[in-house]
Amino acid sequence: NDLFLFILLNIVFLPATSAIGESCHATKPNMLNVHLVPHTHDDVGWLKTVDQYYYGDRNDIQHAGVQYILDSVVDQLLKNPDRRFIYVETAFFYRWWKQQSSSMQQTVKQLVNEGRLEFVNGGWCMSDEATTHYSAVIDQMTMGLRFLNETFGPCGRPRVAWHIDPFGHAREHASMFAQMGYDGFFFGRLDYQDRARRMIDKEQELLWRASDSLTPPMADLFTGILPNGYNPPQGFCWDQSCDDPPIRDDPDLEDYNVDDVVNRFLTIASAQAAVYKTNHIIMTMGSDFQYENANLWYKNLDKLIHYVNAQQANGIKVNVLYSTPSCYLQELHRANLTWSLKTDDFFPYADDAHDFWTGYFTSRPALKRYERISNSNLQVTCNQLEVLGGPVSRNGHFGEGDSQTMMKAMAVAQHHDAVSGTEKQHVANDYARRLANGWQHCQVVVSNSLAALSGSSAQRIYCDNLNISVCPLTESSKKFSVNVYNPLARPVTWPVRLPVNGTAYTVSDAKGKAVDCQVSVVPVSRATQEVRRNWGFAVNELVFQVQAPPLGYSTYSVSLVKDGPPPTSTKYNASDGNNSQSDQPSGAYIFRPNSSTPFIISQTAKTETVQNSVVQEVRQWFAPWVSQVVRLYADSRALELEWTVGPLPIDDSLGKEVITRLDTSIKTSEIFYTDSNGREVLQRKKDFRPTWHLKQSEPIAGNYYPINSRAFIKDDVDQLTVVTDRSQGGGSIHNGSLEIMLHRRLLYDDVRGVGEPLNETSNIFPEGLVVRGRLLLSLDPPPTAADTHRPLAQEMVLQPLLTFTDGNLNPHTQLEVSEEGENDRFSGLQAALPPAVHLLTLTQWDKDSVLLRLEHQFQSWESKVNSQPVTINLQKLFSTLEVLGMSELNLSANQWKDEMIRFDWKPQTGTGHTHTYSVNLMTIWPTVLQITFILDYMYKLFPTDF
Ligand SMILES: *[C@@H]1O[C@H](CO)[C@@H](O)[C@H](O)[C@H]1NC(C)=O
Ligand SMILES: *[C@@H]1O[C@H](CO)[C@@H](O)[C@H](O)[C@H]1NC(C)=O
Ligand SMILES: *[C@@H]1O[C@H](CO)[C@@H](O)[C@H](O)[C@H]1NC(C)=O
Ligand SMILES: *[C@@H]1O[C@H](CO)[C@@H](O)[C@H](O)[C@H]1NC(C)=O
Ligand SMILES: *[C@@H]1O[C@H](CO)[C@@H](O)[C@H](O)[C@H]1NC(C)=O
Ligand SMILES: [Zn+2]
Repeated sequence: NDLFLFILLNIVFLPATSAIGESCHATKPNMLNVHLVPHTHDDVGWLKTVDQYYYGDRNDIQHAGVQYILDSVVDQLLKNPDRRFIYVETAFFYRWWKQQSSSMQQTVKQLVNEGRLEFVNGGWCMSDEATTHYSAVIDQMTMGLRFLNETFGPCGRPRVAWHIDPFGHAREHASMFAQMGYDGFFFGRLDYQDRARRMIDKEQELLWRASDSLTPPMADLFTGILPNGYNPPQGFCWDQSCDDPPIRDDPDLEDYNVDDVVNRFLTIASAQAAVYKTNHIIMTMGSDFQYENANLWYKNLDKLIHYVNAQQANGIKVNVLYSTPSCYLQELHRANLTWSLKTDDFFPYADDAHDFWTGYFTSRPALKRYERISNSNLQVTCNQLEVLGGPVSRNGHFGEGDSQTMMKAMAVAQHHDAVSGTEKQHVANDYARRLANGWQHCQVVVSNSLAALSGSSAQRIYCDNLNISVCPLTESSKKFSVNVYNPLARPVTWPVRLPVNGTAYTVSDAKGKAVDCQVSVVPVSRATQEVRRNWGFAVNELVFQVQAPPLGYSTYSVSLVKDGPPPTSTKYNASDGNNSQSDQPSGAYIFRPNSSTPFIISQTAKTETVQNSVVQEVRQWFAPWVSQVVRLYADSRALELEWTVGPLPIDDSLGKEVITRLDTSIKTSEIFYTDSNGREVLQRKKDFRPTWHLKQSEPIAGNYYPINSRAFIKDDVDQLTVVTDRSQGGGSIHNGSLEIMLHRRLLYDDVRGVGEPLNETSNIFPEGLVVRGRLLLSLDPPPTAADTHRPLAQEMVLQPLLTFTDGNLNPHTQLEVSEEGENDRFSGLQAALPPAVHLLTLTQWDKDSVLLRLEHQFQSWESKVNSQPVTINLQKLFSTLEVLGMSELNLSANQWKDEMIRFDWKPQTGTGHTHTYSVNLMTIWPTVLQITFILDYMYKLFPTDF
């Protein structure tokens, strides 16, 4: 039978490089090997909450129960040692594992050791790639992989990253996966035109060079595009949720169909082999929440393998086997081929000409912001202050606090239907509720830690709604103090705005010195009065600049001098507006404006001006549902745009998507730049894709890209950089212009599964969600722009933590009367880190060890001053920790750096050469790398015992 003759490639056998290799089924070098990978895709929340999915609750919404999947799969794996299964989402596996008996746990360990159950990806969830920030992604990966390592040891370490469902793929994710030690990466979704081209050229498997700064192969990641998303081939779905015919193999019965099944299978395999490079192909046998009754799948797969391979006796050169992604990858590696090189990313994703998945870059802007500040809070309060305050942080004066609750809440929030905004409303509420719960646990840690560090047991008050000028304490108190904690490893100055009722205040620093000329009182704007509803009644805002030392705090005390009517430093006039809107039927995932000319909300705005020594503001009011404040603080490097949008009107029965557009005279040649997950920057060009000839079918939506922390446009003279406070979508549709989508409200579902229009309301805003946010704009000459926007973006991502104590209620709260308020100021570092180095992670690891990540935050070409190597002495870093020893790990902290050996892959173009990264025990020379250490330490500060 000539039909199944394949071009045979030079097959070379290399010695098995890993324990996994030993458990892979043998393949046949002179045949087409079809790797069947049984798998389930278990969303960590989407149409149901993560807990509802785990238990199989609310099956009326969607039939799905992860606990039954794991029960059933383990049972079926035991029935036949040939069978394989992969599991991906540790958030679910962890829940299941906790509930198993020790004998079941032993059984599962055995399956893992024998490679019959293999963990793939292994993070807490399968993160979204368009709307996540790298620091939160690294954390969630670390958490899942740590559980796997501690539970299963080296056999539990995933070799393959597996993002089969996310809606487009970020280069920074690939870079992170490479630095986490993965040998390869598989995904399911890419632009339909891109796929068509890659199928013809057999480039569905490629080498992704995911950083333009790291020396190859540090950020090189072998990447495979799966043949059918992550579904089985058509006609071969044997789950209880599918309708395909089972294999009926009793020849005595009339409906015997083995020949038909085998022929259909061979046809599909042959078609698939024609668009891939080697004599190995992969088939994903499973889909969303499948294998709840795994017997159905395995019984048929056993037969499929048996009957197809039986044809080998008739000369058919096809060999079918149970496999896993790492066994498949190992064969590709053995093929010793060269692979095409890719250096850009896989955004935006379109599954058809008018179906660009670019709406979710902005969907649920309030949740996106809440996730981002929750990350800031986790890093600051739970992680840093827990370490700096020592053991009493967890259990001190204010009770037991913990960081795990927030870590888990943040980890599930990274899922590709969480922060992405593509879940049902009740699920979005569940993510927010988990984060809020995390905050409460963290606040206990903060209170304990600050009490220990400052020696004051005064009750700390948190004001989480300063964004809408609400804080009951500052509104009513005549005397209060503000503790400002700075999570960055360098000193920072921030403007603080507090709602107050008085008209004059004195602010003094820790030493009792008034912060003169730097304090002002401005009236609360009309937009703020409207957005805060009846939550607060303050008439003014007190504005002043605060400074805090690296990884430390300073304390300011504020006293009322004068009550009275609000200051009248405002005047009214009219000016041009520049906000615009487009309305169209898109949905949670998809952006599709019904016109490529946005509708301008208003050419004129009602304007109010406020000006004093601290701040100049122009308050613009375009419509009842769109306003903006253009604000410039004294000595600031950036202009602030505070936007307030909503409730978006729907009385015309049209959905709305609101963008802000900055038009400049910068000559951009249709090029602009966006960050990737908050880290490296990528170039974007209008109507252009670097690896294929684009036929553009959506002039706006097809030119939108994710912006996680910043975007810029530039020419030889000027660079305009916009730093965002959350992930948003944006584009540069016209020369010199940069637009960012702020909010969207839609009345139709976009038929991608969520089954609901994105029509957000909340308790406070029942008629439609109102969202407020900030953009920072800086204008610099291009050679120094990164020196401004890198630190600005950091200050936006890791915000200072403000806590308050009421001076009226607690006049004598100092436990120890310290000299000149000594404890009112503290730094966790012996000296500030150089500007190029960012302290990414400082978190308790074990009782006597902390996890530390430092990164060089500049790309190699970005800055004359800052793109240089930096030397740091880790032993002299911290003020409260005495470092006793240290060990370097991979980025996800689940493998020692010296044990990290990855497959090497050869690119078709460009040279990959091995780079050995050396680390002297105490000194590091980062380039642009995140470096992960475990430090063993002794806590030096002995806090007051309460
Ligand atoms: C891989 O192929 C190259 C030629 O491209 C060859 O020089 C090399 O020996 C091969 N490696 C192995 C292990 O066969
Ligand atoms: C602040 O002043 C406003 C307007 O006079 C008043 O409604 C509100 O109750 C005052 N708030 C406090 C806490 O005194
Ligand atoms: C959108 O939400 C509003 C406010 O809850 C509601 O009145 C309206 O019916 C909703 N429209 C759709 C299409 O869901
Ligand atoms: C203000 O911040 C809180 C979180 O502290 C957030 O939940 C809320 O959505 C924000 N309000 C607006 C109007 O954006
Ligand atoms: C992995 O877990 C084991 C305990 O199972 C522990 O001894 C080892 O240090 C861990 N490895 C890493 C890199 O953390
Ligand atoms: Zn999914």
